[in-house]
Amino acid sequence: KNKGYIFDLDGVIVDTARFHFLAWKRTADELEFVLTPELNEKLKGVSRVDSLNKILDWAGKSVSEEEFDRLAVEKNEYYLSFVEQMTSADILPGVYQYIKLLKEIGYPVALGSASKNAPMILKKVGLYDMFDAIVDGNSVTKAKPDPEVFLIAAKKIGIEDTACVVFEDSEAGIDAANAANMTSVGLGDTGVLGNADYVFADFLEIKDNLF
Ligand code: BG6
Ligand code: MG
Repeated sequence: KNKGYIFDLDGVIVDTARFHFLAWKRTADELEFVLTPELNEKLKGVSRVDSLNKILDWAGKSVSEEEFDRLAVEKNEYYLSFVEQMTSADILPGVYQYIKLLKEIGYPVALGSASKNAPMILKKVGLYDMFDAIVDGNSVTKAKPDPEVFLIAAKKIGIEDTACVVFEDSEAGIDAANAANMTSVGLGDTGVLGNADYVFADFLEIKDNLF
């Protein structure tokens, strides 16, 4: 079929965006910086290294390479302690049904995530086998808002860029999808996702809309 669907992971398929926030908030605390939910929007979709660089920048702190690595490892350990308890019950409403619909029609489905933890989380919630291609933080060199992750995903499923639909909960991700000339669908708040072609609260609202 001549259409492809690319999903972000954190905040789209599973509600892990709040775990990333809690973990970064603790790192920020250590740096004596208050990470607000508003500033956290700028971290969504952004790689681990880029996120820590932003927080250090906001806090007006510079640290040694060693300390940088320690903070990044610590943040991930804290994040993983939240993720550990996840099961298929943590898949966001309507997501499983929507992916099932796409598979029944025969449309290829790909993951386009900045997270290095993506394959592990997909396995944990039992969705790993539903994806025809997985592109994650281990396979990209340029982070969102660069379109690289989505362009690689489109290539892997053999669908033209302009025939791909991207689901994203972050500003950086919507910008990346737009830069890739794909249809961008925002999940969340219109205020944050104003650049998206469409914005929905969740997949229950999207229902069987194929874009
Ligand atoms: C993105 C999240 O999906 O992955 C970001 O929105 C996160 O918050 C990024 O920083 C990198 O994730 P990880 O799991 O490799 O630290
Ligand atoms: Mg996301």
